[in-house]
Amino acid sequence: MTLTRLVPGPGQTWNADDPGLVSALADLYALPPHPGGSIRINMIASLNGSAVGGDGTSETLSNRMDRAILKVIRSLADVVVVGAGTVRKEGYLAPKDSTLAVVTASGDLTGHRLHHAARPPVILCPESATARVAEQLAGIDHRPIALRSSDLDSHEIVDALRQAGLPNMVCEGGPTLAAAFLAAGVVDELCLTTAPQLHAPGTPLLPRLDRTVETDLRQLLVDGSGMLYARWGIGSGES
Ligand SMILES: NC(=O)c1ccc[n+]([C@@H]2O[C@H](COP(=O)([O-])OP(=O)(O)OC[C@H]3O[C@@H](n4cnc5c(N)ncnc54)[C@H](OP(=O)(O)O)[C@@H]3O)[C@@H](O)[C@H]2O)c1
Repeated sequence: MTLTRLVPGPGQTWNADDPGLVSALADLYALPPHPGGSIRINMIASLNGSAVGGDGTSETLSNRMDRAILKVIRSLADVVVVGAGTVRKEGYLAPKDSTLAVVTASGDLTGHRLHHAARPPVILCPESATARVAEQLAGIDHRPIALRSSDLDSHEIVDALRQAGLPNMVCEGGPTLAAAFLAAGVVDELCLTTAPQLHAPGTPLLPRLDRTVETDLRQLLVDGSGMLYARWGIGSGES
């Protein structure tokens, strides 16, 4: 498997087995300079914008190179942020080397695998859901953060994570949380993998995005299977 940088040119190609690939990826995905911390979204979609593959999760859209890139993006962040829907659907495994933060209004973390977290996960939820979270995570070391807003205000979530000493964030979805972050204008960059697959309409990538967001292409990579890896800068433009 190869990985080729198409944008910015001139092109350059790496081999998946190249021992220098991880450090090359760390350079390719260096954090955009941002005072106070940066917020990235890292997600994957099919060619027709499905956020899930045939099994109803994003796992089957991904491949080895995508997972290598995901790992590097995680390593550059202080915290990986996901919505509770992703935890419930995917039984999300906490990253080995970064802190996981989960955002939930209901406190329903059914199917979680947070026993295996290397660092205490952060759970952000309204005051009304803290008891349910405590019950579901009984015996698991975690850091609950009670939000003032019952409607999960994105600015409050970001401020709370900064105050917790986690300024550089990567949001790995799912679609509801990522759309809320984009709509609120808190995102600096979208790292989007496009899988060369078409799927019956299921879960769209950003179903609840309620405004136009301007983007600019910062980087485009392609691997030997046709998977595309883009870094999109997010502007503040609106229409
Ligand atoms: N393609 C990808 O990159 C990718 C990534 C992740 C997930 N997925 C897929 O996406 C699907 C799950 O989608 P999803 O949209 O349910 O995922 P999600 O965004 O992870 O979860 C949504 C849930 O998170 C909470 N939440 C977080 N922010 C919220 C907000 N601003 N407003 C309302 N609720 C908010 C709510 O939890 P409560 O219900 O607990 O209140 C809500 O039900 C799964 O099939 C998963 O496999 C794909």
